[in-house]
Amino acid sequence: MFVVIITIFLVLFSFVYDYVRNKRKFDLVDEFPGPRLMPFIGNAYNYAAKSSEDVIKLILESHKTYGQSYRTKIYNEATIWTSDLKIISSILVNNTKAITKSPLYNFLKPWLGEGLLTGTGKKWRAERKVMAPMFHSKYFEYFVHVFNRHGENLVNKLKSYEDGDAVDIISLIYLTALDSICEIGCGEQIDALNNSDSEYVQAVTETINQFSSDAIRRRRAYLLDNKSKDDVGDDDVANKIVFIDLLLQGSADGKPLDDDAILDQVNTLTFNGRNSSPVAIAFVLYALGQHIDVQQTLFKEIKYVFGSDKSDPITIQQLQELPYLDSVIKEAMRLYPPIPAVARYIEEDIRLDDGRYIPAATSLAMTLFVAFRDPSAFPEPNEFNPDRFDLNGGVSSRIDPFAFIPFSSGPRNCIGQRYALLLIKTVVVQILRNYEIVSKGEAPILFPQIVLRSKNGVQIGLKNRVY
Ligand code: HEM
Repeated sequence: MFVVIITIFLVLFSFVYDYVRNKRKFDLVDEFPGPRLMPFIGNAYNYAAKSSEDVIKLILESHKTYGQSYRTKIYNEATIWTSDLKIISSILVNNTKAITKSPLYNFLKPWLGEGLLTGTGKKWRAERKVMAPMFHSKYFEYFVHVFNRHGENLVNKLKSYEDGDAVDIISLIYLTALDSICEIGCGEQIDALNNSDSEYVQAVTETINQFSSDAIRRRRAYLLDNKSKDDVGDDDVANKIVFIDLLLQGSADGKPLDDDAILDQVNTLTFNGRNSSPVAIAFVLYALGQHIDVQQTLFKEIKYVFGSDKSDPITIQQLQELPYLDSVIKEAMRLYPPIPAVARYIEEDIRLDDGRYIPAATSLAMTLFVAFRDPSAFPEPNEFNPDRFDLNGGVSSRIDPFAFIPFSSGPRNCIGQRYALLLIKTVVVQILRNYEIVSKGEAPILFPQIVLRSKNGVQIGLKNRVY
């Protein structure tokens, strides 16, 4: 009995203690509207037993009910959710102190450890410097060379779906992206596209640590053998790179990276390299199936630049001559942002223009998928209209560059942005040179994870393209 009384006392004491300690934070957070709070648990009841799709609905509904910025509390954790582009850009771009990721990312840590996506502080800063050169423009030709090869494999694979039932294109593009990042990131050619059920490919996606450790061991032995990254593969391209080599040879703050840091970064690159770009590619194709007029205009541009030979390898120069493709990709990423939200843990009070505060020890979740449909920034926001990004006129020229940031912005922006865009462009061009996309199958049922997902894949139909 005595033990029960002491336990109840301790629990109550800790609630009161937390309440007093967090009172100032809660008072400031309560300046924002939000759903009704239950004693102690706050809004936990709103999220309990919700499926992932229901969470996306809940966030959309909450924005509708409470406006661009609202708050939730679960026990003593407070989150401010915002789709306000002014707040988003002021935090991401101008606030160099707001670099720590929110605890909402903690579920990634078992896989990615303290890699670039999840890490913070001095370690993140030093390792970002080591990794930035991986994406130098001198490697672009090599990237496109590898993407071409894997894009061609995808085109061949898709032959069996021609004029047939709907194909879940995203499931195949994940494999193409995986093949590309394994080759460029780890120096491994795994041909996941044609061996998706093999134990080896399952291992890359499920027990990533083992795959990455083996790849690091092999690259270390390779480099010790005095070979260079230019010995990679059988391709005849000048500047080649294997990302692991740069990690093995790099140093952060004058010291070589330790084994754990290298492993976390390889896992992070493999994770990012295979997950986000496929969302962009799949939704570009999906939107083109829904909007045949846009597809025709885009194909005209592609035919003008690439001519009629479907098998000519794509070059980096050609990819730079496709302004309409740029607009189509942007518009697809606006409606279906591959990273639907980013979040920070705010460590010092931030005063907003309207006088309210985002207090220290609060999470700030920035809902990009709501912000990119803000009608004041994007008129007729639910329409798929690539012309809004056409810089030579149209509604487009009015788009504030900070209003559209699918790769985030500021010090923690996407380090792989240019790699991603080259992959997206190469694969979209390869597919459109060979196939007409038609609308077929079910509409995607979206839900947010760290990356935008669809419960039933992304379904399209394919017809042979006749020139
Ligand atoms: C369409 C494709 C992609 C999109 C839309 C995208 C978007 C983003 C966004 C929004 C962030 C910021 C996340 C945050 O603040 O929490 C980010 C960070 C990051 N991305 Fe990407 N990404 C893409 C592809 C890639 C690729 C292909 C790679 C690597 C090969 C990559 C590597 C990273 C890394 C390492 C970070 C963390 C950077 C840091 O915090 O310093 N991403 N990305």
